Amino acid sequence: MGKKKIAVLFGGMSTEHSVSCVSATSVIKGLNKDKYDVIPVGLAENGDWLPYSGEYDNIKNGTWEEDARKENNVPFTEEGCIMEPGIKAIRDCDIVFPVLHGAGGEDGTVQGLLELMKKPYVGCGVLASAVGMDKAYTKVVVAEKGIPQAKHVVAHREDILRDKNCYTQEISEKLGFPCFVKPANSGSSVGVFKVGTKEELPDILQEAQKYDRKIIVEEFIDGREIECAVMGNAEPKAATPGEIKPSAEFYDFVDKYKSGSSITVIPAEIPQEKLEEVRSNALKIYKALDCSGLSRVDFFYEGNTGRVIFNEINTLPGFTDISMYSKLWAAEGVDFSELLDRLIDYGFMRIQENERIVSK
Ligand SMILES: Nc1ncnc2c1ncn2[C@@H]1O[C@H](COP(=O)(O)OP(=O)(O)O)[C@@H](O)[C@H]1O
Ligand SMILES: [Mg+2]
Repeated sequence: MGKKKIAVLFGGMSTEHSVSCVSATSVIKGLNKDKYDVIPVGLAENGDWLPYSGEYDNIKNGTWEEDARKENNVPFTEEGCIMEPGIKAIRDCDIVFPVLHGAGGEDGTVQGLLELMKKPYVGCGVLASAVGMDKAYTKVVVAEKGIPQAKHVVAHREDILRDKNCYTQEISEKLGFPCFVKPANSGSSVGVFKVGTKEELPDILQEAQKYDRKIIVEEFIDGREIECAVMGNAEPKAATPGEIKPSAEFYDFVDKYKSGSSITVIPAEIPQEKLEEVRSNALKIYKALDCSGLSRVDFFYEGNTGRVIFNEINTLPGFTDISMYSKLWAAEGVDFSELLDRLIDYGFMRIQENERIVSK
């Protein structure tokens, strides 16, 4: 069997552009070059799609774009969205690995394009990506499965702009303080705020609505952060969960990607039956959302009550050197390049599994 051509998509128009570049560099370096010809395709912040054949480290440090523009003869314009060079590279490859975080990449939009192009790709399909990206909608599915999660209120931009106090009473009564404010479609803790008092709430909501039209306000959970890596299609497997011990007040953007001082503990040091509960709930949620390929499902463990509480799902979790997803599989004996092989195989298998048995 010859080498497979794999297009690795990186960057994107979301607030997590730079995180994606770091993730993609790890993926590109980790792919076994005896098995794959790798074609990196950068998605610039203005929407241009630019195949890039330069140094991999320039993807990580953000200097790839200028060279990619020269390579493809696509000068920068404000309007952007010159996608043809990238589309051509995708058409010529065997499979695509969208290493994209956030809106316009992790939310089903790129997945939809790849479906229309009949191209196999790594990871979740359109539905799971779209639902998993939207924290409010994910909650509807998780509630239907009876899995505990934080109480919450969904706040809308138009209401906040009309009257910045319009949610104060409902949130005070239903959730109390402190509480957490987060954009419904975000990641990497961008736009996430801890609200200490009722007085702080209106201004924080005004700030949060800049990141998203829809905002989730949650009761504060005084819990440890437990993360579970899931892999597979119809019969997924969950690795033993790990714990993140943030060094900041909560697991914010700086702590995730800049300071590098948060600590990961694998397996998480919680009772065995709680590890099992996390795994089993992670698998239930994965199946309920119709995930495929991979996802990382995050929970809180409340030490004083022993409750395991769902927090969020990441259908394209971080793949940086310090990311939990690959560490959790490494602890199961699956090294990084083997992990990438498996994810790619699931991408190819998904195409076959999704074929309708009844033909025209
Ligand atoms: N309800 C909550 N109670 C306590 N801490 C929270 C709550 N929601 C979020 N956090 C903190 O904020 C971080 C980021 O929130 P999260 O929902 O995981 O969004 P993101 O998609 O940005 O990672 C979490 O890892 C946790 O540290
Ligand atoms: Mg998170």
